Amino acid sequence: MIKEVARLLVSAKFAIAFTGAGISAESGIPTFRGKNGLWNRYRPEELATPEAFKRNPKLVWEFYKWRIKKILEARPNPAHMALAELEKLGIIKAVITQNVDDLHREAGTENLIELHGNIFRVRCTKCDFKEYVKGKRLLEEILEEDLPKCPNCGSLLRPDVVWFGEPLPEKELNEAFRLAEKSDVIIVIGTSGLVYPAAYVPYIVKESGGTVVEVNIENSAITPIADFFLKGKAGEVLPKIAQEIRRLSK
Ligand code: OAD
Ligand code: ZN
Repeated sequence: MIKEVARLLVSAKFAIAFTGAGISAESGIPTFRGKNGLWNRYRPEELATPEAFKRNPKLVWEFYKWRIKKILEARPNPAHMALAELEKLGIIKAVITQNVDDLHREAGTENLIELHGNIFRVRCTKCDFKEYVKGKRLLEEILEEDLPKCPNCGSLLRPDVVWFGEPLPEKELNEAFRLAEKSDVIIVIGTSGLVYPAAYVPYIVKESGGTVVEVNIENSAITPIADFFLKGKAGEVLPKIAQEIRRLSK
């Protein structure tokens, strides 16, 4: 089936990828659901909602500092690298991700739409201050305080990620839907497909007459509309697709 999918991608006019936490699992970042999922160990309503942040910003920041540290140790895996390569080859036009871990960017993906924000960005809860900070500086300057404050107005800073009950960033969501409408192939990787509105993306491709390819270690909510289901780890399946595409384009 890898060969068929590789041929499909090579002949596609406009192929995109849609990714979730599963693509970063092999980089050592825990997923949200399923075995060892974050939401089995922690209650999202206590850590990832605007109400939780109002109630106990220190606890929410502790959770994000822990995740930031974990993500800072992670490197892109062969699945992220394969997607970046497919973009360079002109085969994948964009990657739409639900992940906040920055690993697609680190792998070299250029046209990246982050639907749920980025964990390395902070923003002010009052004014429009927003900053992308990564690595040591983030840990030393922003996170050394219990509660990081805005350099402009002194109000509380928060992670620039989407919490439960919050709308998605409008520009990114519109762009994702626009791309989905014009795509003839979408490759859906490592997502449970349970969180909306992000999960509309593959449905829009399907309804616009496109082909849905899914890569996952198990069935997901997207599987019923998948034309091709490649069962396996993203870090193993994606490099195989890229290798086959290199072979075809020789
Ligand atoms: P989930 O944790 O819901 O789902 C992860 C998916 O990845 C599951 O379908 C797994 O079977 C699959 N998976 C795990 N390891 C894999 C591997 N090595 N290769 C391929 N697939 C693998 O994560 P998401 O679907 O991304 O929202 O969750 C969606 C949203 O829910 C997240 O963006 C987050 C969360 O609450 C926000 O933070 C707003
Ligand atoms: Zn401010």
